Amino acid sequence: MAGIYIHVPFCKQKCNYCNFHFSTKQDNVEELVSGMIIELDQRKSYLKTKKIDSIYFGGGTPSIIDVKHIINIIEKIYSLFDVKKTAEITMEFNPDDIKKEKLNKLRQAGINRLSIGIQSFNNEDLIFMNRSHNAKEAISSIKLAKECGFNNMSIDLIYGVQNQTDKTWKKNLNQMFELEIDHFSAYALTVEPDTKLNYLIKKKRVQPTSELKAENHFKILQEESLKMGYEQYEISNFCRKNKFAQHNTSYWKDKAYLGIGPSAHSYNGESRRWNISNNLKYITLINNSEKYFDEEKLSPTQKYNEYTLTSLRTIWGVSLDYLENNFDQHIVSHFKKNARKWIDNKNIILGKKQCETD
Ligand SMILES: C[S@@+](CC[C@H](N)C(=O)[O-])C[C@H]1O[C@@H](n2cnc3c(N)ncnc32)[C@H](O)[C@@H]1O
Ligand code: SF4
Repeated sequence: MAGIYIHVPFCKQKCNYCNFHFSTKQDNVEELVSGMIIELDQRKSYLKTKKIDSIYFGGGTPSIIDVKHIINIIEKIYSLFDVKKTAEITMEFNPDDIKKEKLNKLRQAGINRLSIGIQSFNNEDLIFMNRSHNAKEAISSIKLAKECGFNNMSIDLIYGVQNQTDKTWKKNLNQMFELEIDHFSAYALTVEPDTKLNYLIKKKRVQPTSELKAENHFKILQEESLKMGYEQYEISNFCRKNKFAQHNTSYWKDKAYLGIGPSAHSYNGESRRWNISNNLKYITLINNSEKYFDEEKLSPTQKYNEYTLTSLRTIWGVSLDYLENNFDQHIVSHFKKNARKWIDNKNIILGKKQCETD
């Protein structure tokens, strides 16, 4: 089984912290989607399997483009791959794009999970971040999505924001708990290069968040979520009722995925590929049958490093069986030898926990 990721590189406006690939100009959406359809055709054999158990529309902001484009892409995927009946098909949504008609059309097209970029339920945070929605819209978007039948839903929150206090962060979490959301991701605000936030900090117009404050917010996050019955199954991901994000979990479990669109990454167990992060260049290159990606073949050491690093972010940890079955004996011995000191000082627990998404 494998996953497909579709990167939709358009946003209404620039959030001050974000350096994902996107453009605020939406004048070439048609050409870009046509390019993605060509890419799907060209790369239908990239994965060693045709069986797909998750599709993820991310961005950028997939919810700002016309629904017809999402439908075209889904139909193309179904025509090329064997998509499992129970496949998780997620689309990222910004709260201000959540409209009844749009949601109904997308549900009919097969989208069965939403990931809503709430970031905060506090207007002061949202204005600071330059988000295009306010707190009221954050709440109403979740309610409307539920009314339209989207019970499988996740929201994104950010902590360690400049004026956020322990109290307002806790209030944010309580607001989410009140809305009965079964899955959420909570990220520590990171100052990325080439962002307005980075510029403001450099110019000393904004103070960087102290590590202590971010750490406190993380502790509050863990304590409050645990109290409310959520399981922290990855550093930034929490769920209850076993509603693990299947697509994202596959990234941490070394499963293959095909990434389509500008800046999208792909992995097929042997190599990693990343597409050019420029919409116009992507469209031109793909239409002229020229190379629009870079690629690296992963050495066993790189594969081992990636596997251990990502696995240790999750509650399932590193599987010794997986290491034995996929790596040479000297790599397995290296792991066992090096894990020993962490096991002895109780930073790593030796145990068995089955991954529910396997
Ligand atoms: C690439 S965004 C796409 C989601 C959607 N466009 C939105 O903003 O609602 C995915 C998530 O990454 C998180 N994110 C992006 N940049 C971040 C940063 N610098 N620090 C912390 N979280 C960040 C946000 O929570 C965001 O919802
Ligand atoms: S956080 Fe989302 S909406 Fe904001 S700029 Fe990044 S991708 Fe676009």
